Amino acid sequence: MKLFVDTANLAELEDCLRRGFPSGVTTNPAIMSKEKRRDFREHIRDMINMLKKYDSQIPLSVEVYSTDPTEMLEQAENFVNDFGDYPALNVKIPIGWNELTVIAALARRNIPVNCTCCMSYNQAIMAARAGAKYVSLFWGRIRDIGYDAGHVVSQTAATFRSWNSSSEIIVGSIRHIADINEAIQAGADILTVPPKFFPQLCGHPKTDEAVQQFVDEFRKWQDPPTTLKRAAA
Ligand code: E4P
Repeated sequence: MKLFVDTANLAELEDCLRRGFPSGVTTNPAIMSKEKRRDFREHIRDMINMLKKYDSQIPLSVEVYSTDPTEMLEQAENFVNDFGDYPALNVKIPIGWNELTVIAALARRNIPVNCTCCMSYNQAIMAARAGAKYVSLFWGRIRDIGYDAGHVVSQTAATFRSWNSSSEIIVGSIRHIADINEAIQAGADILTVPPKFFPQLCGHPKTDEAVQQFVDEFRKWQDPPTTLKRAAA
């Protein structure tokens, strides 16, 4: 199971890269729009430079920003032209009947596709069959409409396994720590997680208590109160 970082924020990305755990980065047009307004390509270029700064060759997903499949293909080709020096670039294409033509066209050219916005087992299966390297299932949004996201992920994982498929399941749309744990149990290959959750994943009040106790006892031993020092002398 791998952890991707779901962000376009450079400071958040660096915070994670410094800690060595990310296996990939995902963005989407809405995530991009949270950043300071600037040329989109410059921002992606800065993200790539940040990855290079940490010698990272991890997948970076960049999503098309159109609902028209012809434009999607043009945008995907532009991404490849602009950012082809980063070999781990992935193009995110939303699932849909006409969108499958874009996924298949890119896959034929060995351009890795992350098929995004999948909310069902059937969509995930179709994306994989069309050649998507990654299939992104949106945990929180699936649950928003009352469906069992765990079941969708586990069914998809079982089918991919039975085909010996090279497609990997990314679970996104994470809203709570519990989503992460449940999605792992359900068989997700990858979790893409908003950076705000990572510090929580490392913390525990009993850890804080233990670390503080060790330091306090060590300090008492090394630097006893003056009364004890006098008695010892
Ligand atoms: C995943 O690749 C998406 O960028 C993201 O997780 C979507 O989640 P949302 O439901 O928070 O928009």
